[in-house]
Amino acid sequence: MATASGQVTQDQQALRPADETIAEDAQALSAQLKAMRERLFPPASQKTLRSFTSGEAARLVGVSDGYLRQLSLAGEGPQPVVGAAGRRYYSLADIDALRHYLAEQALAKGNISKARTYVKWRDQSLGEHLQVISVTNFKGGSGKTTSAVHLAQYLAMTGHRVLAVDLDPQASLSALFGYQPELDLVGNDTIYGAIRYDEEARPLSQIIRKTYFHNLDLVPGNLELQEFEHVTPRALAERKSGDAHSLFFTRVQAALQSVADDYDVVVIDCPPQLGYLTLSALCASTSVIVTVHPQMLDVASMSQFLFMTSDLLGVVREAGGTLNFDFLRYLITRFEPNDGPQAQIVGFLRSLFGERVLTSPMVKSTAISDAGLTKQTLYEVGRENFSRGTYDRAIESLEAVNSEIEQLVHSAWGRKE
Ligand SMILES: Nc1ncnc2c1ncn2[C@@H]1O[C@H](COP(=O)(O)OP(=O)(O)OP(=O)(O)O)[C@@H](O)[C@H]1O
Ligand SMILES: [Mg+2]
Repeated sequence: MATASGQVTQDQQALRPADETIAEDAQALSAQLKAMRERLFPPASQKTLRSFTSGEAARLVGVSDGYLRQLSLAGEGPQPVVGAAGRRYYSLADIDALRHYLAEQALAKGNISKARTYVKWRDQSLGEHLQVISVTNFKGGSGKTTSAVHLAQYLAMTGHRVLAVDLDPQASLSALFGYQPELDLVGNDTIYGAIRYDEEARPLSQIIRKTYFHNLDLVPGNLELQEFEHVTPRALAERKSGDAHSLFFTRVQAALQSVADDYDVVVIDCPPQLGYLTLSALCASTSVIVTVHPQMLDVASMSQFLFMTSDLLGVVREAGGTLNFDFLRYLITRFEPNDGPQAQIVGFLRSLFGERVLTSPMVKSTAISDAGLTKQTLYEVGRENFSRGTYDRAIESLEAVNSEIEQLVHSAWGRKE
């Protein structure tokens, strides 16, 4: 019987095993993504970080632009690169060197508290403990990765030593740092390599990678993370009584402890599910940020998330896990201030949870989503790529959110600012 040509193709396709079609699509997509990366980030197809204007540098360090200019004219401290029209630019490493230079000057004058406003590393002798912040919610697309990456970058840029951990098999956080997981990572390159139960496990210090952000390291993610969900039930079943080592909820914590001395803050980007990975992250956390997009369906699913989390954490606590958070905060994401229903939902959440909702919401901005198209963050793209109003509104919102979280971290350390 005669059939339209389109139908013949479809019928033929139906005879092909689905796995082959999907594998072919995966290959084609992966190759295209690789080509795109080569175009976007020549010549080594690796991401690098732009330099920062003296105004940005001054703001990050916490001095005035005039003072920075004075320093550079006097030839003191790290010197900027002078570009067209006498504009001065600093790399992030220069900015960090500037911070250390200013801290030393303050120390020389005996002003310790001033020195610590520049270099914010935690002081273990004062009991300032490693802050581990999980960004979580099982609602997909609630802004976890966007919030986590900007928080990690902000903390590094403001003078903290930061480790970002991609706990999501989808590896979106790693993609934002320029990784294409299926090409760039082999086995045991994710945190799974450090938390697995068998003898293949290796130290987290061997898995951590430097990024092109000074003071920001990464534990990348890829599909192998999913293994933890499969092997944990077996490990639990085989567990000999009293063998704390095999308890799943201690494993992320133990891995992070092994590198704690090198960092001030760890930011964990959780997957959109409440499995063993997320639970292990929560058990390793000193603080939690729950991202909430203010729409009714998201808020309804959040109540499910909270019930389930509290149940599961209760079980973990009974099994001997310790769960004391320095802070737990809800972060409103992709907020549209002119949208009436959204404003109502935010009001509703604030009346329910009070100060547990961060004062500043993260506004929805094309600057964030456009930057995302080239796998970049707002800190990477620079102001010249957008209309000023768009960029400034987005960065202002981002800075408000991140500095609020920074304050919470510092208060957890007992600092008064
Ligand atoms: N403030 C914002 N303004 C505009 N777009 C945003 C903003 N925050 C996030 N987005 C976009 O929304 C989408 C989902 O965000 P994101 O990936 O951060 O969510 P997620 O919770 O990590 O998702 P998943 O559950 O899949 O891990 C992304 O395309 C991102 O670029
Ligand atoms: Mg994500």
